Parts: sequence; C-alpha cells; structure tokens
Amino acid sequence: MNRLLLIIFTVLLISIVSCSTKGFKRGKILYDAYCSDCHMNDGSGLEGLFPPIDNSDYLKTHKLDLACIIHYGLEGKIKVNGKEYSQKMNGFPKITESDIANIVNYINYKFLGDEEYVNIKEIKEMLSNCDEVIE
Ligand code: HEC
Repeated sequence: MNRLLLIIFTVLLISIVSCSTKGFKRGKILYDAYCSDCHMNDGSGLEGLFPPIDNSDYLKTHKLDLACIIHYGLEGKIKVNGKEYSQKMNGFPKITESDIANIVNYINYKFLGDEEYVNIKEIKEMLSNCDEVIE
C-alpha cells in the first residue's frame, strides 16, 4: 500500500515538474527568438546599447510593467544596474497574451530568481494599465 502511494506521489510530482518546465521551455524559445538579439541569451545585454535583463534592478522595480514593455516597447532614458540607456526598444504587438505570459514567467524564473507564476488574467490586467509605463 505504501509503495503504491509512493508511486502515485512520484508520478504526480513528475507531471507537476514537467508541466512547469514546459511553460519555461516555451518561454525560453520565445525569449531566444525575440529578445536575445539585443539582450543576449544569458540576459547580459550589451553595455551602453542594450540593458541587461539578468538581475536588472530596473526590472525588479518594474516587474508589473514587463508585459507592457514586451507589447509596446520602451523609449526614453533609463538606468539599469548603474548604467544609462536611451536607445528605443520597439514593441512586439504580435506576441499573444499567453506567449507574453510564457516570456514573463521565463524571465522571472531565469533572470530574477522568482518562481511565482503569472497567469494570462494577470497579463491582461498588466496590459490594461500600460499608459503610465509608456510615456
Ligand atoms: C532590437 C533590440 C531589442 C530587442 C529585440 C528587445 N529589446 Fe528590450 N530593450 C532594448 C533597449 C534598447 C532597451 C532600453 C530602452 C530605453 O532605454 O528606454 C530595452 C529595455 C528593456 C527592458 C527594461 C530594462 C531592463 O533591461 O530591465 C526590458 C525588461 C526589456 N527590454 C525586455 C525585452 C524583452 C522581454 C524582449 C523580447 C520580447 C526585448 N526586450 C527585445 C532593446 C531590445
């Protein structure tokens, strides 16, 4: 009986883990396709031109703006980890809300060490409050 429980538990655990990494997998594919040209695969950016995503202090304080940054882009002078950036980033209006969620979750997990999962409803909420983000 105990053995059976252990098996059920293991199967459950494996499916939960593979389910969540699946989300990050798609997020990684999308990040690598859309973002890594400038921000690099490892999120390190290119000093003076493209700000880092990895451990970005700017992003940590603008977490709720990430969906808007992806959808609308970002313009104007910003400071990331002590360095200034002022190039314009174009938005990606064609990326769907569920794929924005995949990218956001991948970035949060991989570059900010945050395992909290953002769902599509929360992405929609973020996107309906973009006015203040984009000046
Ligand atoms: C063509 C180059 C380019 C691409 C592609 C690009 N960005 Fe950016 N990104 C920039 C630039 C330039 C800035 C700085 C904008 C500014 O100074 O206002 C920026 C700023 C940011 C910031 C805020 C600053 C920071 O580093 O924390 C985030 C977050 C971000 N981008 C995420 C993304 C994501 C996610 C993608 C892919 C969906 C992406 N970017 C694709 C060039 C790019």
